[in-house]
Amino acid sequence: MTRAILASIAGALCLAAGVAAQTTAPQWGQCGGQGWTGATTCPSGWVCTVSSPYYSQCLQGTAPPSSASSVSSAPGGGSPSSSSAAPGTTPTLIPGYSFIRSVEDPNYHQYLRSETINTVGTAVLGDPVDAAQFQILNGQLEQMVPDGTILYANVEPPANSSVVKLGVSWDTTPDTLGTFLWGGDTVEWNSATVTRPQNNAWLVCPDAAGNKLLFLNLGPYDYDTPTGCADETIHAYTGPYPTD
Ligand SMILES: *[C@@H]1O[C@H](CO)[C@@H](O)[C@H](O)[C@H]1NC(C)=O
Repeated sequence: MTRAILASIAGALCLAAGVAAQTTAPQWGQCGGQGWTGATTCPSGWVCTVSSPYYSQCLQGTAPPSSASSVSSAPGGGSPSSSSAAPGTTPTLIPGYSFIRSVEDPNYHQYLRSETINTVGTAVLGDPVDAAQFQILNGQLEQMVPDGTILYANVEPPANSSVVKLGVSWDTTPDTLGTFLWGGDTVEWNSATVTRPQNNAWLVCPDAAGNKLLFLNLGPYDYDTPTGCADETIHAYTGPYPTD
């Protein structure tokens, strides 16, 4: 006990002197946050950066936790065949959260996020480097923005009875139409007022700018797929980094 405390203090004091103690958090590792009792110093060249009241992380240099530099909208929906998930920008999973990704072609391992990263607006899937992080709590699908803001997935109410898909967007207020839940690692949604045969059926429909918009599929999976859309299920991924 005493020894651990001393080691911790020593680690903090000696960092500047270049002592590589086990009390230095690893690259990309947690270095602070409410209740955190582990290392609070980062390797040389890495900065302990606050992501939320609950989580601080060692990041390279002084770069903000989420870089938008890799955002590109290739006309016609083209996406780079090899992801630009460079170590300098790849997000690291926060304990208790999940990445969420689609697994069926043509959207294999595309990750859920806001169209404009970390903001209110349309829900899309995109490259691993831009993956956002999520929890499902109290029937809400919550996106955790690095500044600590929670954005709730909101399902668009059906305009009429012939609508076959519903848009999904991120807002600061919770969804009132239905309930998000995990079915194993699969994201599902059901509602008392919206009838659908399959709670895990989603669609990805690119817009003219190539954004891969997420929709809730009101029909069965892989049946009468709307023109321009692809059937998808979306799943939690809890590896340390989003992978291609
Ligand atoms: C139903 O709503 C959709 C979406 O707003 C609209 O495009 C469509 O024309 C409507 N159909 C009918 C029959 O009202």
